[in-house]
Amino acid sequence: MVTTYHNYIGGEWVPAASGRTFEDVNPADREDVIGLFPRSDGGDVARAVAAAREAYRTWRLVPAPRRAEIVFRAGEILVRRKEELARLMVREMGKVLAEARGDVQEGIDTAYYMAGEGRRLFGHHAPCELPSKFGVAMRVPVGIVAAITPWNFPLAIPTWKLLPALVCGNALVFKPAEDTPLMAHTLLEILLEAGLPTGVVNLVHGLGEEAGAPLVRHPGVHLVSFTGSTEVGREVARVAAETYKKVSLEMGGKNAILVMDDAPLDLAVDGAVWGGFGTSGQRCTAASRVIVHEKVHKAFTKEFVERARALRLGSGLDEKTDVGPVINETQLLQVHRYTEVGRGEGARILVGGEIATEGELRKGFFYRPTIFDDVDPKMRVAREEIFGPSVSVLRARSLEEAIEICNDTSYGLSSAIYTRDVNRAFQAIQDIATGITYVNASTIGAEIQFPFGGVRQTGNGHREGGWTALDIMTEWKTVYVDYSGRLQRAQIDV
Ligand code: UN1
Repeated sequence: MVTTYHNYIGGEWVPAASGRTFEDVNPADREDVIGLFPRSDGGDVARAVAAAREAYRTWRLVPAPRRAEIVFRAGEILVRRKEELARLMVREMGKVLAEARGDVQEGIDTAYYMAGEGRRLFGHHAPCELPSKFGVAMRVPVGIVAAITPWNFPLAIPTWKLLPALVCGNALVFKPAEDTPLMAHTLLEILLEAGLPTGVVNLVHGLGEEAGAPLVRHPGVHLVSFTGSTEVGREVARVAAETYKKVSLEMGGKNAILVMDDAPLDLAVDGAVWGGFGTSGQRCTAASRVIVHEKVHKAFTKEFVERARALRLGSGLDEKTDVGPVINETQLLQVHRYTEVGRGEGARILVGGEIATEGELRKGFFYRPTIFDDVDPKMRVAREEIFGPSVSVLRARSLEEAIEICNDTSYGLSSAIYTRDVNRAFQAIQDIATGITYVNASTIGAEIQFPFGGVRQTGNGHREGGWTALDIMTEWKTVYVDYSGRLQRAQIDV
């Protein structure tokens, strides 16, 4: 018997009004149907927005320290349920158990950090130019937030959006990716158990075009916080502009690791394997390019290929598995299409390059860790986000050239340099145009207390994580109090 799950709107668990559903499937075993979820449309979305608007009237007046206590308790529940949630996550989206635990931990970290913000939410005070006048800028909620989240961090990324939004006093409509609805459902249950009042978060499941699009269009929504592909992100911004919404976008990446000729090579290979093939390459921070100094190219690739070949594919629940499946069949075919594209462009495939079908792997969506060599910066495999276990190796003759290649992309999320030379490291920090740069560590592994996001087509100027998440989830209100008892004219009565 497959369980049927519901939307959560205005405090009630309800099916889509149409009664339609979609399947949530285990990517390691397509026969394993996890649940049926409501295939919502504009009508369901409109009811969710109305419920959020109603709840917002009182929620925004709950003192922030009280709102934050709910977030703190949600963190405590996540701690208690960490292992269970990690296992559910592996079943739902395939990442290996250690990484799934990390995903839940990222949610816990966010809960504790944001709970602390309940007693900060710092504003600014500055002196006024006129006597007996007081000025302060304070944060106020944006209002109704649409949170549209991806499947690759099905717990962590929803917490990046929901938890700061809640501490700041917003009400939400949450539309999670259709590949990971169970994680979203479970997060909502946890928030309710932690004491979240009715209607403050409304959960609407469904497909992007059917449920996401009407949410972005809805005039009752004030902010859309979206993480996903660059193409969809642009569409979100375009549609949201029609109703003057605030929009925060976190989109693709084509992140590079620079390996200099003085790099600790073993460490650099560790970083390339972890950044390129961790989460089957399905992170927006994934190291999908490695730019290697020509002097160490041979030694580096030899080791990198050996390590990639040795990676074990399988169910993420098996502790011996290194690389799980990709998320679904469409993505599997897409990853393979890029192998064909790379081959056609003249890249050399050193390892992988095929769908894995032996034994149990046939049941799921497994792709062999793939390394392209002799990649030219102009090739599509060097420029486009593949979002799978495929890494392009490019050569450079100098640090300057490596940086130039690194920056020659339409994305700008993460980057890394391996070198023992502190001057080179600082030159890279200065000249690489990405939102995040690592020195002697891979492109993945951001911590939640720092700004997370990128430049160019990766984002639109916002940063999730840390204190900068508050800038997304609040508006500034400037308050002047004139206690002189007379008319005082700024800029005139000097
Ligand atoms: C993402 O891939 O969308 O830095 C988020 C990292 C993780 C977050 C990744 N902490 O790789």
